[in-house]
Amino acid sequence: MTPPLLRLATRADEPFLLAMLYEASYAAEQGLTSPEALRSRPDLSCYIDGWGTGDDFGIIGSTATAPQGATWIRLLTSERPGYGYIDDNTPELVIAVVPDARGTGLGTALLTRLIADVRSRYPAISLSVRLENPARRLYTRLGFTDVVGSEITNRAGTTSMAMILRF
Ligand SMILES: CC(C)(COP(=O)(O)OP(=O)(O)OC[C@H]1O[C@@H](n2cnc3c(N)ncnc32)[C@H](O)[C@@H]1OP(=O)(O)O)[C@@H](O)C(=O)NCCC(=O)NCCS
Repeated sequence: MTPPLLRLATRADEPFLLAMLYEASYAAEQGLTSPEALRSRPDLSCYIDGWGTGDDFGIIGSTATAPQGATWIRLLTSERPGYGYIDDNTPELVIAVVPDARGTGLGTALLTRLIADVRSRYPAISLSVRLENPARRLYTRLGFTDVVGSEITNRAGTTSMAMILRF
């Protein structure tokens, strides 16, 4: 298999990141019919509004012709936290791969690269994930652990919890 092309995300990638946020948040299950609909959801738009400013940092994975997946981190605050909020110094992570490219190693490559790039900058990174999401295996393999007591009932009525990777 050809290794994925990985590069830093820029402001110009915001529409693709929005599409990946749509996948990562399982927004279609909640009746949101397009990535644009996320913009009116403060609990989700906090991960993307004005992307590419401040300390935002992300990696895009592509074939020679099109982006296939992305992961990024953003520092959120207690005033406008995300679902994986730990504290104001711990960025939250989002990751998704387009449906046709899942299970081929791209998610692992993206997350491995992002971790290597940011581990000297932050004490930790965190995320929120549904307990039934197979992505939990990927996170555990790369060193994330469950944040005890962070369980919440998510928008789908199942349980999500925060996971953290301490550097
Ligand atoms: C999670 C995701 C980014 C992983 O990327 P990927 O390229 O499929 O991952 P890889 O091929 O590198 O690694 C496989 C691992 O990804 C996860 N995975 C594979 N297919 C998946 C799917 N359809 N949904 C969720 N996770 C999946 C599993 O942890 C798998 O590990 P396993 O082989 O031990 O089961 C990707 O599957 C995806 O976009 N899923 C839907 C969106 C999502 O759930 N995002 C995370 C929200 S917290």
